[in-house]
Order: sequence, then structure tokens, then C-alpha cells
Amino acid sequence: MARKICGASFLVALFVLACTAEGLSMLENIVEDGNSIGTKWAVLVAGSNEWYNYRHQADVCHAYQLLKKGGLKDEHIIVFMYDDIANNPENPRPGVIINNPHGHDVYKGVPKDYTRENCNADNFYAVILGNKSALTGGSGKVVNSGPNDYIFIYYTDHGGPGQIAMPVGPAVFASDLNDVLKKKHASGTYKKMVFYLEACESGSMFDGLLGKDLKIYATTASKPNENSWGTYCSFGDEHECYGECPPKDYKDICLGDLYSVSWLEDSDLHDRRVETLKKQYRQIRKRILNNGTQGSHVMQYGDLHIHNDVLSRYMGSNSPKHTYTTTPSTNDPSRHVNQRDVHLLYLLSKFQAAPEGSNRKIEAYRKLSEAITVREHVDKSVTQIGQALFGVENGPVVLNTVRPAGQPLVDDWDCLKSFVKIFETQCGSLSSYGRKHVRGFANMCNAGIRRDQIAAAAKHACSP
Ligand SMILES: *[C@@H]1O[C@H](CO)[C@@H](O)[C@H](O)[C@H]1NC(C)=O
Ligand SMILES: *[C@@H]1O[C@H](CO)[C@@H](O)[C@H](O)[C@H]1NC(C)=O
Repeated sequence: MARKICGASFLVALFVLACTAEGLSMLENIVEDGNSIGTKWAVLVAGSNEWYNYRHQADVCHAYQLLKKGGLKDEHIIVFMYDDIANNPENPRPGVIINNPHGHDVYKGVPKDYTRENCNADNFYAVILGNKSALTGGSGKVVNSGPNDYIFIYYTDHGGPGQIAMPVGPAVFASDLNDVLKKKHASGTYKKMVFYLEACESGSMFDGLLGKDLKIYATTASKPNENSWGTYCSFGDEHECYGECPPKDYKDICLGDLYSVSWLEDSDLHDRRVETLKKQYRQIRKRILNNGTQGSHVMQYGDLHIHNDVLSRYMGSNSPKHTYTTTPSTNDPSRHVNQRDVHLLYLLSKFQAAPEGSNRKIEAYRKLSEAITVREHVDKSVTQIGQALFGVENGPVVLNTVRPAGQPLVDDWDCLKSFVKIFETQCGSLSSYGRKHVRGFANMCNAGIRRDQIAAAAKHACSP
């Protein structure tokens, strides 16, 4: 139909275009240049704290600078970060945070909206919903948006199947986050929303959960069952690098995360009034695939029509520059480091660097072996519980089963939450490493295991 009329006249063609989602968004892109409609809002979240997690807050600070330069106002950019990095005693450049080996400071000017104990899941939900009375502490800024507004949410940190961490308090469960997004949609207070999410297993936050009818487009750093990766890391005296080396004064940390720096650098580099979300998705996907072993698959969820929008709709426009980063080739052979291993590498490197026989060496050894013991304990107890419930051979199979794409991690989220709680009561905190086992608990729920069964199995596995 469209083909027949095409070329008849520009106006008719425009009209026909307007009848398709892609055409509509092209028209909107044209109108948007007048900058007359809709306020742009952004919520930026770094879900971790502590020096060895430098990279997450660096990613978020970089995102703030990008949006600020893009013309978003401080009153419309809401930042969640623990804020213990810039002035950390370990920071070789006090008061400064960088997100790229050649990068300059990205910390200056970042609003301190929700820091320390206020950087938590409940405030995150309240901010998205624009519900000031549900806030505890913080600046009080919320997404007070109207029906013509555009919202961009970006989260970076550790995650696990069906959940992402916050530095304080309980994790954000996928079911709760999607409920909040549904509520926001029902309140009719945005036109479109884009959600960028980096964490291990981040696809599981939206797969089978984020509807196509909410006017929300999301991309995630990985499939529901893949790790995400830290980059620009250096560990140890030999200055062993993962991704391009950070400056020499930065040791034992990563400056960024792979998905995060990929979209941030792509957005800095290209003309955002021209580049679409879809093009960005394709470009960062290529960069992150890294041929298998140390990459992940960037995924898209929700309303895919939205990805025909230009980036500037959400991030504001820029004067693209070609000096800030070295653009890695898409066949970048560099290695990156699994987010879950960064902490261990950090502790190992501290141990190696400490002088023989010193108290520091003993302390570093204690911390390293403790971290290893905790990991082994979590792995062992989850395995034992699985075997008690499903048999020695079948246990690991059931626990590691990944549901097909399009199906959520678990059907009964309350069951999952209670199983995690039961485990943690008997066996200790999962911590960010142990979050990977949440899929196992989800599969126990899916298999119809009862609370008393897992409680008995956990007690057996973990009581001394
Ligand atoms: C805002 O939060 C308060 C406190 O949690 C709650 O009672 C109220 O219903 C919320 N308002 C809306 C509009 O959701
Ligand atoms: C990456 O994968 C592609 C396609 O499988 C292959 O042609 C290419 O040689 C690989 N590159 C590297 C660096 O392994």
C-alpha cells in the first residue's frame, strides 16, 4: 500500500509515513528539533559502594556530564550514588573521578541527590513514580513529569537473576521494578521512556516481564544468563590490564563497565540528533560481543518502535567530538574482567603488593582467604540444598536450567523472595558473588518446592 503511493507527492508520502510507527517517530524527530515539546528527565543509578567498585559511580558521573552538556537541567537529572569514591583515601587523584584512560574529571558538578543511606530501592521507586511523600532523605527531587515528557533511566552495578543491587538495603527485584514501571505508565505521566541497564544477568530484569504496550524501550548489558564485564582495569604490580590500561596511578580497579562505557562513548562521539537508539544498540552490541568468551549479548526489550527515535530525544544534543576516546574496533581483541571477579582480583593484588612479613600482608591474606571461603561456602550450600531436593545428579541440572527467552525467571516472585530470605537466614548473606545462585532458587519455586522443604534442606546444609 505504502509503496504504491510513495513518490506521488512529498505531503502524501509524509502522511503515509505518519501511519507507521517508524514514520511517526521520523516526524517526531523533525518536530523535536524545534525543542518545543516535552521535558527530558533522567534518573541515574550506581548500585554499589566501596573503592573496588569505582567503575559504577564513574559510569554514572560520566552519564550526568553527557546529559548536562546535552542541555538537560539539573532539576531534571536525579542521581543515585553512594558518593564514597571521589574523596576515598585510596583515590590517587583526590576529588576526581575518571571513566576512561584518557578521560578528564567527571565528578565535578554531579548533584548529590540520593547518597549514602538514601541511595536505596524505595527511594528509587519513589523517584520514578514522582511520589515525594514516599521518600526518605535525599534532595527531594523526583520525576515530576507530564504526559509529553521523555524519561531516561540508567542503572549500573552488580546484579543477579531477577535482581539488581543497591548499596544500602534490599535489592531491586525485577517484579517490583516492572510493577513500578506499570504504575508510572498508568499514571499517564510520560510520553516515552528509555531504560539502559548494566549488571550481570541484566536481561532477566525485563525478559518476559516488560510489556510492549508501556511505551518503554530497554536495553541490557547481557542476556538473562550472562555476566557483564568491567573494563579499563589494571591489577597487580605487573599492571595487567583488561581493556585499555588506565593511567599508571590507578591500581587494582576498573574505570568503567563495558556496556556502560560503550553507550557513553558512542553518545559522546556521534551526532545525537542523527543517531537512533537502534543504531546505538547495534554499535554497542558489536563492541561488547567481543567474539564470545569475554563479552555478552546486549539485549532489547519492551516497545521496539521506540528505537527509531534519535538519541537527542532522551539525552539532548551534542557537538560530536572525535578526540575524547580511542574508538575501539568492533573486533577489539582486548580482554575484560567478569564483574563478579573484580573484588577477588582486587584483594589478590593487595595481597601481592604488601611487603613480605608485614602486618599488611597478614591482613590482606586474611581478607583474601575470607572472601574465597565465603564464595566456597555459598556455592557448596546451594549445591547441597539442590541435591537434597532433587537428588545428587539431578540437583545441579535443575538449579542451572535456564528458561527459554520470553519467559520470566520465575512465576511466583513472592516464593523467590522468601526462598532467598530462608537461605540467608540459615546460610548467611548471598553477597554480590552469591547473587548468581538466585536462578537456582527461582527454579526451586518453578518446580513447586514448598517453604518447609527448602527450610529443612537449608538447615541441614548450613547448621554446624
Ligand atoms: C505515595 O507514597 C505514599 C507512602 O508510601 C503512599 O501512601 C501513596 O499512596 C503514594 N501515592 C501515590 C500517588 O502512589
Ligand atoms: C570473531 O568472530 C568472527 C565470526 O565468527 C570471525 O570471523 C573473527 O575472526 C573473530 N575474530 C576474532 C578476533 O576472534
